[in-house]
Amino acid sequence: MMGIQEGEDEAEDEEEDIDIDIDINPLTMLLPDVQQQQQQVVVEEVEDDIKLPALDHQQLLQHHYLHSLHSTVAIRQLRSQGLSFQLWPAATTLFTLLDRHRSHSLTSPLTPTLSSLPARPRILELGSGTGLVGISAAATLGAYVTLTDLPHVLPNLQFNADANSQVLAEHGGSVHVAALGWGELDHMEAIGRDYDLILGSDVVYHDHLYDPLLETLRFFSVGGEKSVVFLMAHLRRWKKESAFFKRAKKVFDVEVIHADGPSDGLRVGVVVYRFAAKPSIRI
Ligand SMILES: C[S@@+](CC[C@H](N)C(=O)[O-])C[C@H]1O[C@@H](n2cnc3c(N)ncnc32)[C@H](O)[C@@H]1O
Repeated sequence: MMGIQEGEDEAEDEEEDIDIDIDINPLTMLLPDVQQQQQQVVVEEVEDDIKLPALDHQQLLQHHYLHSLHSTVAIRQLRSQGLSFQLWPAATTLFTLLDRHRSHSLTSPLTPTLSSLPARPRILELGSGTGLVGISAAATLGAYVTLTDLPHVLPNLQFNADANSQVLAEHGGSVHVAALGWGELDHMEAIGRDYDLILGSDVVYHDHLYDPLLETLRFFSVGGEKSVVFLMAHLRRWKKESAFFKRAKKVFDVEVIHADGPSDGLRVGVVVYRFAAKPSIRI
């Protein structure tokens, strides 16, 4: 298809050929200066109103500008609370692609996937963290998005969902927050399988989470009446992540649909993958 897109074998070769130093530290990639180089972000301090530890000096509300909508998405990060409360680089890439897709769909790498969705798609986001990706998908696509994460992350996710109620109302999207621990059957069953697309950004990092994440993907993408595509933005940090992709390719055809150039000081950039269930796996 497009120059950047690759077949499964090429994507697999890429996984195995990249020689990445084992000591790339994800925390060094969380610093806002890197993200602010990539998009217009306005930062302000906000009051803590959700009973989190008082006086969090790292607490920031960032306004991410969606050029296609002439609107901003406001996201609160609570950096001192841990990785689930921070914005990761891959989220910024998906945010930018969704924005560009809205205004330049003819050249968008998301078009082959998004053009087949219904007018008001139902989207499930895994490991939403701060919720930037899911909220932006709701606004730019007019989608019904379920933002999910571990239970302790949900108050901040709900805060961010509420902070954007106006922009969502203006553009016809909506978001809903739900607990989803990967591989937890009760959570998965409570959420149901009625989705048209699954999104995730920077959800492959700890190796003990590879199998629960794959189990979750299998549940939602091939466990229902139709197979559902998973779009995943990922910044590769460790060679061991090849294991995730090898296991995923037993169930999914994995295609690279977009690759950012490396950010300053890094040897790799964020890559966006499209996971579609193999025909032999589809129900
Ligand atoms: C590296 S962060 C990425 C957050 C967000 N997607 C982003 O790109 O900014 C990974 C996310 O996965 C979530 N996560 C980790 N383990 C999980 C699990 N077992 N089940 C569900 N979510 C999990 C974390 O809470 C966190 O929000």
